[in-house]
Amino acid sequence: MTKILEINNIHVSYGNIEALKGVSLSVNEGEIVSLIGANGAGKSTLLKAIVGLEPLKGGSIKYAGEEILSATGSGKASKKNLRPDVIMTKGISMAPEGRGIFAEMTVLENLEMGAFIIRDKNLINRNIEEKYEMFPILRDRRKQLAGSLSGGEQQMLSIARALMSKPKLLLLDEPALGLAPIIIQNIFDIVVKISKEENVTIFLVEQNAKMALSISNKGYVLETGKIILENDSDKLLSDPKVKAAYLGE
Ligand SMILES: Nc1ncnc2c1ncn2[C@@H]1O[C@H](COP(=O)(O)OP(=O)(O)OP(=O)(O)O)[C@@H](O)[C@H]1O
Ligand SMILES: [Mg+2]
Repeated sequence: MTKILEINNIHVSYGNIEALKGVSLSVNEGEIVSLIGANGAGKSTLLKAIVGLEPLKGGSIKYAGEEILSATGSGKASKKNLRPDVIMTKGISMAPEGRGIFAEMTVLENLEMGAFIIRDKNLINRNIEEKYEMFPILRDRRKQLAGSLSGGEQQMLSIARALMSKPKLLLLDEPALGLAPIIIQNIFDIVVKISKEENVTIFLVEQNAKMALSISNKGYVLETGKIILENDSDKLLSDPKVKAAYLGE
């Protein structure tokens, strides 16, 4: 299987705090891969690093076989570090933690913002139509300010906006956070649909380990900046350590 994302021993720090302490993982094309971990484990830091929003202190990241990011030691100007918008153009898009929607803009304007790297207006309009088909509620609410949507609708908008750049790899940062169980089920059904029908590879970060592992092929467990477990998701679901720490069983 082709690896679409390869993370090799990356380190990310905030001042003296080392948030990622040598993380390595890979995501195969076409799969859903989940990363589970508690508050503060470093999940969001990892996603931000992948899209070029946090600099690497060590290690490197490859996308579709090409090195897109690497730690820049002093004087190593030749090392490659693509800008976030260039990384997006290559095919990676993120629905960030807390959804990151523009509350004072309409649903339609939010979708248009997601397509800022695309010039072709017809293509953008076609994309918007596709997103309305996927999330009919967004069509009904298209002229409404995004800040007035319900939590579940905002999450749908966040995912739809991330898809507007036509990514091959979609990064989702805790899409289930703060939502009622029935809405979470709905969101996860859509994630599976995106994976199957849109041909998009998905890297899913979640604290809701049960849901994430139930829809993913493979899973990683991140604890205080280190990967402590990796396995097929069904094996992680029956792993005693995962059960005790993340599934409340
Ligand atoms: N901008 C920042 N400045 C300083 N420290 C930060 C910053 N962002 C994150 N951290 C620290 O880095 C560590 C990892 O944070 P991160 O947000 O990646 O965790 P997380 O796994 O996404 O947690 P959560 O589940 O709560 O979203 C934490 O100790 C956090 O306090
Ligand atoms: Mg986070």
